[in-house]
Amino acid sequence: MPTTKLAPSLIAADWSRITRDITELAEAGCEWLHFDAMDGHFVPNLTLGPMFVEALRPHSKLHFDAHLMLENVGDRIDEFVAAGADSITVHVEGNPHLHRLVWRIKDSGRLAGVALNPGTPVAALDAVLPVLDIVLVMSVNPGFSGQKFLPLALTKMQELARRRAELGLNFLIEVDGGMSPQSAPLAGAAGADVLVCGASSIFLKGQALADSTRAMREALAR
Ligand code: DX5
Ligand code: ZN
Repeated sequence: MPTTKLAPSLIAADWSRITRDITELAEAGCEWLHFDAMDGHFVPNLTLGPMFVEALRPHSKLHFDAHLMLENVGDRIDEFVAAGADSITVHVEGNPHLHRLVWRIKDSGRLAGVALNPGTPVAALDAVLPVLDIVLVMSVNPGFSGQKFLPLALTKMQELARRRAELGLNFLIEVDGGMSPQSAPLAGAAGADVLVCGASSIFLKGQALADSTRAMREALAR
């Protein structure tokens, strides 16, 4: 069993054949599906709201991972819970009541994650780290699929892995942005447990999902 989980980022998928694609991703051994919700304010792009999670829920048993790139998430958490998300990640930036949001997710029985933009230090998580299930390290500035991996994410993941061991915690370290067969082994070595994989890795034009998934597994095993 591979220890590093792959989370294909569905904003990079071909939505005209999405139910076939998510079946193929499950058959290829991907463990999570990553849903990027963007509001056009926190990030410039507009993407997937809770109705996309709800529409796909009956078609997949995989773990549904919702990444909310929204300002003032508030009641949206309940909408993603009702839609069937298994984990919900909110950003430190743009959410002044972070502690309340984390507990709202946990009280709903879902895994609670907090994301850090590339410009935000790990110390921003100090107050909530002991109760988090996931820390999502952005390795691109959020907003679009297909951007280049920022190596500063590696130092951040190493710091998180060190603090996790020192404090006896067991949150997952998830990395999001620019994953490829080149950057994935670096992320794995830095402590990443979950790799979000979009346009530079899993969803490659003209390549079967099974082949691109295998290439990522092989890169991680190197
Ligand atoms: C970026 C999103 C990502 C994105 C990753 O803001 O959070 O999940 O889709 O895509 P790639 O792997 O293409 O960088
Ligand atoms: Zn994401």
